[in-house]
Amino acid sequence: MQIGKTLKQFAQEEALNHPEIPADIASLLDDLAVACKYIGSLVNRAGLLDIRGAAGAENVQGEQQQKLDVISNEAILQGMAHTGHLAGMGSEEMDDPCQIPKGARRGDYLLLFDPLDGSSNIDVNISVGTIFSVLKAPESGRDVVEKDFQQAGSKQVCAGYAVYGSSIMLVYTSGFGVNGFTLDPNIGEFILTHPNMRVPADSKEYAINASNYRYWEKPVQRYIDELVAGKTGPRGQDFNMRWVGSMVADVHRIMNRGGTFMYPFDTKDAKKPGKLRLMYEANPMAFVIEQAGGAATDGRTRILDIQPEGLHQRVPVILGSKNEVERVTGYHQD
Ligand code: AHG
Ligand code: MN
Ligand code: MN
Ligand code: MN
Repeated sequence: MQIGKTLKQFAQEEALNHPEIPADIASLLDDLAVACKYIGSLVNRAGLLDIRGAAGAENVQGEQQQKLDVISNEAILQGMAHTGHLAGMGSEEMDDPCQIPKGARRGDYLLLFDPLDGSSNIDVNISVGTIFSVLKAPESGRDVVEKDFQQAGSKQVCAGYAVYGSSIMLVYTSGFGVNGFTLDPNIGEFILTHPNMRVPADSKEYAINASNYRYWEKPVQRYIDELVAGKTGPRGQDFNMRWVGSMVADVHRIMNRGGTFMYPFDTKDAKKPGKLRLMYEANPMAFVIEQAGGAATDGRTRILDIQPEGLHQRVPVILGSKNEVERVTGYHQD
């Protein structure tokens, strides 16, 4: 009888087959998976516990923190602090990065994460997720500082997401392809169900918050006008639109059947070039998408080449099916 391969078994084998992957990434992923299982169990019971709604505080983003934002953030901080893998952590829900606790064994990596992506969907029972990005920590044993986290996305050692949907899945890459694992609640393990995920180069499906149309740059307006015109326009075929309001859910759909996800530059808020954050949303998702054969730019520059200037810096995001992303990016050169 074929027994499913667990996340840890797969990641250990992957590191054996690819010496460039540090051997301890399997254990780091396994520890992170425990925190995701805990978050998933809370998300799936949110209505039964008093954990829905706002926490009553604003985060560094200027957003009303949801109770589950705070609880999920704590779950990862506590779950990862004493694993010996990390030198520090940074999160959407924390103003500054934190050291690992005094007395904990300092590890070789930095963890960046969006503990709960798509928070606005919690109370309406629509899929949410967790996004994570692993970077190398500075060699020396000193305390980490924000600058240590400001590494381009191309430097990521590992990245991925958990999606708390009709099933709970964890999808990650360590630079040698993308693999997806489904939580088997009977044994509490993530089991390999989506080996070698690939994003088709072409697609007829796109995801964007169309209510921001008047704030977009001309190239994006042109691209969307053409999709909306469908077979009556220059594209000569009809397209379909989806917008979940959770980046993780939209990206996971694209990882399964292709498509384009866009949160492009907009003039809605002069201080923010786009809504999504580079370090713990755009970079990890760009790494996963590229490793599955897709592409990811800010409209002009490859996301993974952007040199970060701040932990919470925002970037425009255009990612997904390669030929579509190259078309939109090409319109920005015209
Ligand atoms: P978060 O809940 O972590 O703050 O992220 C929400 C993001 C992203 O998940 C989603 O694609 C986007 O916000 C939706 O933005 P709009 O509500 O403006 O459509
Ligand atoms: Mn948020
Ligand atoms: Mn998010
Ligand atoms: Mn979030």
